[in-house]
Order: sequence, then C-alpha cells, then structure tokens
Amino acid sequence: METERIVSPEYTPPDGAIELSLRPKTLKEYIGQNKVKENLAIYIEAARTRGEALDHVLLYGPPGLGKTTLAGIIANELSVNLRVTSGPAIEKQGDLAALLTNLNEGDVLFIDEIHRLSRAVEEVLYPAMEDHVLDIIIGKGPSARSIRLDLPHFTLVGATTRAGQLSAPLRDRFGVILRLELYGTEELALIVRRSADILGIAIDQDASLELASRSRGTPRIANRLLRRARDFAQVIGDGAITCKSAQIALDSMEIDALGLDLVDRRVLEMIIAQYNGGPVGLETIAAAIGEETVTIEDVYEPYLMQIGFLGRTPRGRVVTPAGYAHLGLQHPQRQDTQEQIRFAD
Ligand code: ADE
Repeated sequence: METERIVSPEYTPPDGAIELSLRPKTLKEYIGQNKVKENLAIYIEAARTRGEALDHVLLYGPPGLGKTTLAGIIANELSVNLRVTSGPAIEKQGDLAALLTNLNEGDVLFIDEIHRLSRAVEEVLYPAMEDHVLDIIIGKGPSARSIRLDLPHFTLVGATTRAGQLSAPLRDRFGVILRLELYGTEELALIVRRSADILGIAIDQDASLELASRSRGTPRIANRLLRRARDFAQVIGDGAITCKSAQIALDSMEIDALGLDLVDRRVLEMIIAQYNGGPVGLETIAAAIGEETVTIEDVYEPYLMQIGFLGRTPRGRVVTPAGYAHLGLQHPQRQDTQEQIRFAD
C-alpha cells in the first residue's frame, strides 16, 4: 500500500503526526470494536477472493473512536491506495470529479464528516457509487451537453458522527453500515499500553488503567492523556508514568475520577441549578454552556448517557439520580420519595 495521501489541501488530520504513528495498520492490531472487526474481516476477505472492490462502507459513532483508522486498515488489508478527504473540503462538484477520476481500480476513498457534503456534490456521488460513472455537464444554456465518464470500481468509506444526519438517498447507497461503540476501560488500557510502547514511554499497569478509566471511552482521548501524563512524569518524576503521577496529571487537568471534564460537569450543574434537573432542550443547554448544539450532542452527551448521568425524554434531557450523586447532590425525586415514605409512616 502507498503511504496515506492527504488529497485536499484544506484537510488536516485532527491530531497530527504522533496520532498517525499510533494508528494500527491491520485489523489484528486494532483493539476493541470486536463485532465491527469480525464483520469487516469477512467482507474484506470475500471481496479479495472475488477480486472485486469492497462494497461502500459507512462508519458512524462519536468522534475519536477510530473511523479514519479503520478506513486506513480497510485499504491496507485490501492492498489498495487510500485517499483521504472530508465533506467540508469538497466544495464544488469539480472537486469531487477530480478526486474520483484520479482513483485506481479498487482504491478506497475516505470522506470524513460525509454528512457535510453539499446537495450538489452528493448528486455527483450517487451515480459514481452506484454505476461507477461520472456525469459531467459541458457548456452552458441550450448548447450544454452531458458526457458520461467511466470510473474505476472503488470503495467509498464514509464517516459521520450520526447516521441520522445523512440524507436517506446517500445512506441507502452504502452496502455496509457499521456503528462504532465507546470502548471499555480494559480495551482502552490495552490501547494506552500499545501507544506507550510505540512512543517508548515507561508506564505502570495501574497507571494505564487509571488513564483508561478517565478517557470517556475514547482512544483519541486516552492517547492524549498518555502524552500529558508523560509530561508530568518527566517534570515531577523520573519519566516513567506511575499511578501517582498519572493521578496528579489528571487532577491538574481537572479530569475527575470518571473522566468528566469541566464542560461535562457544567452541563450537569447547569441543568440542575437552572432547570431543577430537567427536562431541558438541547438548544437551551448549548446556549447556556456556550457550545454548539452539535458539540453537546456529539461530544458530551454520548458519554454522559453511557455512564447513566444524563437521560433523554421526549421533553428534553434530564440529570439522573446517579448524575446528582456524582456531583455530591441529592436527587429531588429521592427527597420526594423519602418524604412520601415519611408521610406513609
Ligand atoms: N489507537 C487508537 N485506536 C486504537 C485501537 N482501536 N486499537 C489500537 N490502537 C489504537
């Protein structure tokens, strides 16, 4: 496989060169997402044996779970080139046409944030995905005519934070739709150990578990915390990350025992202080916190829901009794229940 080529000048990988060096290159090296891995392995082997391009793949799930990494693995396992771009980077139909006509047979085209493609660009993508053709309009007005170019059989790997954000016609054109889940602590600890080995960082077993348990189920966060913990270990210790130095690093970054940061806690505290624990609408939460609605929905909410601190009701979000307890507060319903119990006595 050729090295990863960043096709569009606007596109920069989110976490830079170190993050790239940590990315696993094969399904075997990839930790976690077992169901996704098992299924992908079958589809890849079947496509390889038939000598065909893999069907188009849609990956969805919260940010930082390894969608770009999986696209790289798919290309690597199929021994084809990977082209990387993103929805917002493809502004015009011509941008996509240029990308498509430069593909080789079987190549993987990865479009991150695919839900942000414009309607006009999507229209070019449909026949390319379905029939491997590119319809180009030449000229304007009455003399305009359409010509059809054949494209190589390629695999589109699209990534989005939520499948529901995609237009239905685009979603329907993916033969494989895979949902990535937040990682468990043990899996994240393995990822931390693997990354530490690659970066030549000494880390104790309990320190990797400590970092993992505060990484909100997200490898990208785990790898970031590993690098910050290394900074602390270097300055306050002998360079090796111990459980103690990891805890000092995490506490200094105001990341609590469950990995919640200041914004997570502000979300919970605000709903409790201003809306008596909810229900309250997403837009209201976003406005009160000063973040974009999509950021609250894609970045903060999934983990708060996963650990059972935030609930979703038809009338909005509510802080659960566990969320109250984490902040050291009493849930109002519990008080009511206790009062009812008292009255019943
Ligand atoms: N680095 C980031 N994500 C990873 C994963 N799922 N497996 C192994 N290393 C990783």
